[in-house]
Amino acid sequence: MMDDMMRQMGAPPRKELYPSLMEVEAFTPDKRQQFERLARERMKSGTALMSSGLEKLSAPSSEQDLPAMREATALMRQGVVQFDTGISSLQAISEGKPPRAVALDWFKQNMSLLPSADMQRPHGIFGLSGFHYFTMFLLLAFAATMIWINLKKMQRAQALAARLTPQPGAVLPERTLTPAAQSIPPSLLPEDAPSKSNAWTGLLRVVQIFEESPNVVTLRLTDPSGGSLPFRHLPGQFVTFTVKPNDQMVKRSYTIASSPTRRDYVEVTVKREEHGTVSGFLHSVRVGDTLQTTGPSGNFTFVGDGANSIVLISGGVGITPMMSVVRYLTDRSWPSDIFFIFGCRGEKDVIYREELEYLQRRHPNLHLAITAIDVASADWPYARGNITKELLSQAVPHIEIRRVHLCGPKPMMDALKPVLIELGVPLEQIKTEIFIGKERPATPPTLAEGVTGSEQSQPTTTPVEGAETAGVAVATFARSKRTALFPPSKTLLEVSEDVGVNIDYSCRVGTCGVCKVKLLSGSVTMEVQDSLDAADKENNIILACQAKTRGDVSVDA
Ligand SMILES: Cc1cc2nc3c(=O)[nH]c(=O)nc-3n(C[C@H](O)[C@H](O)[C@H](O)COP(=O)(O)OP(=O)(O)OC[C@H]3O[C@@H](n4cnc5c(N)ncnc54)[C@H](O)[C@@H]3O)c2cc1C
Ligand code: FES
Repeated sequence: MMDDMMRQMGAPPRKELYPSLMEVEAFTPDKRQQFERLARERMKSGTALMSSGLEKLSAPSSEQDLPAMREATALMRQGVVQFDTGISSLQAISEGKPPRAVALDWFKQNMSLLPSADMQRPHGIFGLSGFHYFTMFLLLAFAATMIWINLKKMQRAQALAARLTPQPGAVLPERTLTPAAQSIPPSLLPEDAPSKSNAWTGLLRVVQIFEESPNVVTLRLTDPSGGSLPFRHLPGQFVTFTVKPNDQMVKRSYTIASSPTRRDYVEVTVKREEHGTVSGFLHSVRVGDTLQTTGPSGNFTFVGDGANSIVLISGGVGITPMMSVVRYLTDRSWPSDIFFIFGCRGEKDVIYREELEYLQRRHPNLHLAITAIDVASADWPYARGNITKELLSQAVPHIEIRRVHLCGPKPMMDALKPVLIELGVPLEQIKTEIFIGKERPATPPTLAEGVTGSEQSQPTTTPVEGAETAGVAVATFARSKRTALFPPSKTLLEVSEDVGVNIDYSCRVGTCGVCKVKLLSGSVTMEVQDSLDAADKENNIILACQAKTRGDVSVDA
């Protein structure tokens, strides 16, 4: 196309420098002259193209004609290139370069691969030009920036992976209701570490009694010598009272419903159980009475760490650990969502109702959902019936990505666990506490059939001979000097009750640690060991309510 233009302009057809140069081995004087001429012709045709382009560009008609202007600048550009390659070829020939090197220079210049003569001239340290240094600096800066960006990306990816890795109690990122809850909030552990499990035993005085509902009271207890409590606890932990309601000492555990932020007192909320030994006794205490207390203990705690929201589901008196948690979190202004779901029998059984409604008004991140089965009043503002799958779905958006704490009557817990799993909550995100595992023995302990009761002064370790007992292990209660058959179907606690050996208990599900006994010989299996710490295990302490036979055993009871 450019050649056509040249022809139209009356210029001779362009002889190609490059192919001709490539064919020449060496410059003879004739050849040198020939190529110098070709180079000059090239410069001439370049000049012609440049002036033609300039002419077209300066024509008044082209001012509004953009394609014509573009064509003119293309002509000028082509002219410059031709002129420049002509000069370069002349210069290379005059420097005595071989024809192929001249051809190569020409080619590179045509392809814009060759730096200008000025740039080629080496100067500066190591013969490098300022341009080289500048380019190297830019490249190094670029490389350093890329490395820094990638390092940052890796750090962020690691942090995200750590956050998504299921840790005890940890949850996945989620859509929350409260903006502050978009990231995992900082832990709100009390400043001082909690006391070691059951590290303190002593007397606490009843200073106030609050009637929560017809059969529930709250006892406020303080240190009789005044001042702060003699132990520190976590929200959700419990204390164990040793009382003597009749002739016998008995122990029962009660959750501390107050917040650990209240350093001068603990409150326990006690439901009077029908025929309940200790709950009945605690309903009869008066202000000024003292209670032998051991504590604190328990792992059913939540201080706000490792989760970006919490769902607290409770029924009946199972509300007590949830109350401690919600009081603590609101006291410490925990910023994330707290879903408080409570179910009970009747309207009057909603203990702490006023306080919960007050807290909800003051803390927009607290979401309250209450339901009661027997509701008479027309202005009942909450749901009716049991806690159901529908109620949970409505009250807790995306429950499947949240940590759930569950505590209440055993039938309620048995019903709700599968519901939570159906709603997609991973099992490891569901934390539970059972207050009473099994019904207490309804009748005073007697010797059961097939059991050997011994009043001998030395412990008996020989089981009754016979078909029924052959192969059945024997439990020896060394201090009581009694032995009993220890069949696989029974726990050590049940066997002890069979032969009238007194081992204290409270929960019967391995939570409270009240039934701890020392294993003197033999070994047992235990399904739950929540209340045993490392020191207990080292000292061969076992939970009688969990211990199942693996052969003959002897215990210190
Ligand atoms: C970790 C933990 C925390 C707890 N927190 C709380 C709490 O905050 N608030 C609370 O109220 N409770 C709590 N409990 C439960 C508490 O420890 C007691 O188990 C509860 O108060 C009942 O004890 P009791 O001595 O009154 O009843 P028990 O005398 O032990 O009787 C228990 C049940 O057996 C029945 N029973 C007993 N004897 C007979 C009989 N002869 N015939 C028929 N039935 C009989 C009773 O009716 C009752 O339902 C908690 C338990 C644990 C393990
Ligand atoms: S009775 Fe509570 S752990 Fe055994």
